[in-house]
Amino acid sequence: MKNLICSFIFIITTSFLLHSQPPGGQPPANQPADIIIASGTLHTDLIYKVSSRDGRLYQAYLGAKLSGPSTLSQIRNTEHLAYATFGTDNLFEPAIRMTHNDFNPSLELKYVSHTSEKTDDNVTITRILLKDPEYPVEVTLVVKTYAKEDVMEQWVEIIQKEAKPLTIFNYASSMLHFDAEKYWLTQFHGDWAEEMKMKESELTSGIKIIDSKLGSRAHMFQTPVFFLSLNEKSGENNGELIAGTLGWSGNFRFLFEIDEKGSLRVISGINPFASEYSIQPGKIFKTPSFLFTWSNNGKGLASRNLHHWAANYGILDGTKERLTLLNNWEATGFNFDEKKLSAILDDTKKMGLDLFLLDDGWFANKYPRNNDRAGLGDWQENKAKLPDGLGYLVKEADNRGVKFGIWIEPEMVNPKSELYETHPDWILKLPNRPENYFRNQLVLDLTNPKVQEFVYNVVDGMMTANPGIAFIKWDCNRMMTNAYSVYLKDKQSHLYIDYVNSLYGVLDRLRQKYPHLPIMLCSGGGGRVDYGALKYFTEFWASDNTDPLERIYMQWGFSYFFPAFSVCNHVTSWGKQSLKFRVDVAMMGKLGFDIEVDKMTENELKFSQNAIADYKRLSEVICHGDLYRLVSPYEENRAVIMYVNESRNKSVLLAYTLNARYGETFNKIRLQGLDPDKTYKVKEINVSTDGRRFGQMNDGGKSYSGEYLMNVGLNTGANSPLSSAVFEISE
Ligand code: DGJ
Repeated sequence: MKNLICSFIFIITTSFLLHSQPPGGQPPANQPADIIIASGTLHTDLIYKVSSRDGRLYQAYLGAKLSGPSTLSQIRNTEHLAYATFGTDNLFEPAIRMTHNDFNPSLELKYVSHTSEKTDDNVTITRILLKDPEYPVEVTLVVKTYAKEDVMEQWVEIIQKEAKPLTIFNYASSMLHFDAEKYWLTQFHGDWAEEMKMKESELTSGIKIIDSKLGSRAHMFQTPVFFLSLNEKSGENNGELIAGTLGWSGNFRFLFEIDEKGSLRVISGINPFASEYSIQPGKIFKTPSFLFTWSNNGKGLASRNLHHWAANYGILDGTKERLTLLNNWEATGFNFDEKKLSAILDDTKKMGLDLFLLDDGWFANKYPRNNDRAGLGDWQENKAKLPDGLGYLVKEADNRGVKFGIWIEPEMVNPKSELYETHPDWILKLPNRPENYFRNQLVLDLTNPKVQEFVYNVVDGMMTANPGIAFIKWDCNRMMTNAYSVYLKDKQSHLYIDYVNSLYGVLDRLRQKYPHLPIMLCSGGGGRVDYGALKYFTEFWASDNTDPLERIYMQWGFSYFFPAFSVCNHVTSWGKQSLKFRVDVAMMGKLGFDIEVDKMTENELKFSQNAIADYKRLSEVICHGDLYRLVSPYEENRAVIMYVNESRNKSVLLAYTLNARYGETFNKIRLQGLDPDKTYKVKEINVSTDGRRFGQMNDGGKSYSGEYLMNVGLNTGANSPLSSAVFEISE
């Protein structure tokens, strides 16, 4: 608290009072002093400077928190324009580009004023107003800082007061500059069922772009997250870096440009590709938020910062408990009826899970949803499968003391559906070209207010008829191709932006009426995982690939940017590993099952019941503890992580052996995040179905000091491929 107050005073002081002097003393009498504008968190400062020479705004500093006004006053001019424009003298990639009413294609931005407002103990919003001296165009750069979490959020608001609309071609959310010897970029890429593959490479002179052009989702091939390490590659606990991500569920772009002097500019925002946007006079164009954290202690700290931020601000109800669940997608596919579902409700109860989630296939009558080729868009219960409707299932769940959840995909339509037949103009498709299908479906035109109303009513209608529904899985199984909006007419280049903003509009409305209903964000696996959407959702589906070996890498990747409670991991029949291995992998985040419980052996059922009970007992530590990634699967034949709670009296360690070469042995692992002065009991849980403990595990059940565990370490496992162990470590 004391620190917070200090930093508050420091920010206010620096924001309003500090004027730095040119070398050699006072500025000439007629020259105003430079203005310094500082935004800071507990450990980071981002400092802008208005040059008295030209009135432009420059980025003067980004890095470790400076000790106070005396250091700040020494900040010298840089040539790093805070928000570089196009058309005047900037020779590199601009943050903003536009054409005025008189066809002048240039923009000049000069500082006008700034304000800094502390909205509570932790959050400060600094707004810097810039204006073109010749044209009525204003750009406000906004920096919102989260002191305790060490996270900064940046966005931009553009307003124009010319006689007619003007067109913007580039409109970044953030532009940051770095001066280092070398720059290392870690990016995450993949495809359906191959999400979050990590790759690190050195940036070289010129431009590197990571982007997407998928329209209805942010990613599939490239994920909107990155680490940028300065000078050297960063490790888990060493190295200077930023971790960045864009809160936007559509096309994104991160652009990294190294200039002739070796300086790097990072421009983040909506992908301007095919998206020139015309702004009406007086109307504000607000970009999505770029979020980042700076760390000089490696990626581990950066992840923990983002996890804390996500729990407190980024994800809906981020500090509340999550529901464990039994899903039926892998177990039944489209093939179920009321009787089968009643049996699955029994299984939900038997397993000790909180909720049954009914997946795809429960709706449509003229074209029944018995496969993915028909019915999407017709959201009435299928009479053959559910003669007594959803209400009956809600009641049956309630009778068993479990909750009921349901899958929807309200933004999409099959050509074989009544919706398609009745409203062809509600669908995104090009005139004079064939329809282009992906998973046999098309995207609805959410820019059209009638479609927004329809999507809202899919949820609201269902919830009004069945107020007992306790959970929703909101899917989105395709990107846009051959897209054209009848509604947008001559503004087709607005489609990508208006689609996402319309989706947010619908979600805003739904959240006003259903503020705390848990909703899982899903997009044909993990195609829509971003902090733009997650403020409306409680969790996300990471991938349709649930083979636990693959999952270790994916969950590892997501853990860099997203907290454990948000990553849904289900135990399924994918992969040939033991049930124990599959459960141990799913326990790394939000545990669920999607498996034929009636086919389990007695032992397997018992094992699962115990594991679920243990998970519930420990979920506070797993979901909200600090994450330490101890051994990376990218570096060794094993992966080890641990979570430690805030008071450091409880920890859960999860260790996976992926493979082992002949004769390969694994060393003890030094734990992290514990209190050296506490004594901990280490107990292996999730003991396998046949009662065997993990390989040669001989450290289980003993007590050690935190100092011992962090300096000597723990033997976490043996070298049998695809084996695993989970340890509960308690003071
Ligand atoms: C894609 C999702 O990722 C799956 O989990 C499942 O819900 C299917 N859609 C249903 O169509």
